[in-house]
Amino acid sequence: MAHIGIGLLGCGTVGTGVVRLLQQNKQKHENFTGRPLRVEKILVSNMDKERAEIIDRTILTTDPDEVLKNPDIDIVVEVMGGTGLAKEYVLRALNEKKNIVTANKDLMAMAGEELFSSAAKNDVDLMFEASVAGGIPIISPLKNALASNKINKVMGIINGTTNFILTKMYKDGSDFSEVLALAQEKGYAETDPTADIEGLDAARKIAILASIAFNTRVTLDDVYVEGITKISSRDIEYAKELNCTIKLVGLAQETNGQVEARVHPVLLPLYHPLAKVDDVYNAVYVEGDAVGDVMFQGLGAGEMPTASAVVGDILQVGKNIVKNVSPRDNCSCYQKKEIIGIEDTFDKYFIRMTVADRPGVLAQIAGLFGDNDVSIDSVIQKKYCEGKADLVLITEKVQDRNLKKAIEQIKGLEPVYALENLIRVEKES
Ligand SMILES: NC(=O)c1ccc[n+]([C@@H]2O[C@H](COP(=O)([O-])OP(=O)(O)OC[C@H]3O[C@@H](n4cnc5c(N)ncnc54)[C@H](OP(=O)(O)O)[C@@H]3O)[C@@H](O)[C@H]2O)c1
Repeated sequence: MAHIGIGLLGCGTVGTGVVRLLQQNKQKHENFTGRPLRVEKILVSNMDKERAEIIDRTILTTDPDEVLKNPDIDIVVEVMGGTGLAKEYVLRALNEKKNIVTANKDLMAMAGEELFSSAAKNDVDLMFEASVAGGIPIISPLKNALASNKINKVMGIINGTTNFILTKMYKDGSDFSEVLALAQEKGYAETDPTADIEGLDAARKIAILASIAFNTRVTLDDVYVEGITKISSRDIEYAKELNCTIKLVGLAQETNGQVEARVHPVLLPLYHPLAKVDDVYNAVYVEGDAVGDVMFQGLGAGEMPTASAVVGDILQVGKNIVKNVSPRDNCSCYQKKEIIGIEDTFDKYFIRMTVADRPGVLAQIAGLFGDNDVSIDSVIQKKYCEGKADLVLITEKVQDRNLKKAIEQIKGLEPVYALENLIRVEKES
């Protein structure tokens, strides 16, 4: 029986997992597609590197053409990462009429449109389930099982590093920098953690999810991004007092045909399903008009969880090849919706400031909020040290633009020593 030929671009964490899983559940995969699957070639950069025993060193190569132009390869699996060579190789593979499976969120968020149009031109599949939330199935459910719904909102904890840090800060009362060092020691955070802690990794993923959920192209530039570096143990103390936790979320929603996409920390009430997603776990919460609320939860990274998603895509493509089915519609962005900027969005806010501990200060601050159409829902005021008080205000749902105007004016008040933090509050579940 003919094989389905697989070529890998990369054999690191994910590539090794893909090979391992293809071997582990070989018979099941063959039953699923109707044909055996065989890894024909693997592109690496260093032939001498030590690798897992399951890797057949005789099929390693440093020549990309041995994968891209190999007539025995039907599916090219891009698990090398980056956007330069990875993009070049994927485009070359598409032009060689190879189906593509990728785990690369950077590539999909940056060049999705170009790759989809090349896949359509060449009549091949382009699958990318592992690019968002690793092992958690979310792209295929949004594209298929939930296709009957009008999706109103997608909100996810889609970065394991920041979730580990915030969980530890919440549970132990530790400071951000202390927990970041621990995350680096445990291998949960990179030596340069910028992409994670500044929210950029999550921004790429929410751009991909928003594009699929709302059928319109959302790029990284459309996503408003705030990271977690300003979250302090004091913010967490107040969150606890308010029966909330603090999480970094990627959020995309459609209101009256307009789409917004953002990444920022939020105060989540403890009853919210996402509030219970801790440590390196990821979860994506979706609101559809028919299904209601659904949540997908699991490990967002790691060798085998990510391989689960990659091999799942390989099997779908394999089935298409065996059944001689034309590629399914790869790109779901068939509409063009307006993307709204952050200043036009509405949220509840948690505002923490250090102010002079004397009568009349709250009235002054409340007056400026009122002048800018910002209504206050509740207030906590506590003596902080001699002459200073912590003032925490929770607003009603207000427009970002109005809040910023008010904050600028409040910062100029003499009794306001510091605007310590401003965090959005998620109320509905
Ligand atoms: N790790 C995860 O848990 C995870 C989860 C979801 C998505 N992803 C995505 O999956 C992709 C791969 O991640 P990973 O963690 O497996 O990366 P990795 O461990 O760094 O592996 C990268 C692999 O690509 C090879 N490679 C890199 N540049 C190359 C080049 N110029 N020419 C030839 N080979 C090259 C490396 O070769 P050598 O082996 O010779 O060094 C290595 O085998 C990334 O896009 C990542 O964002 C990863």
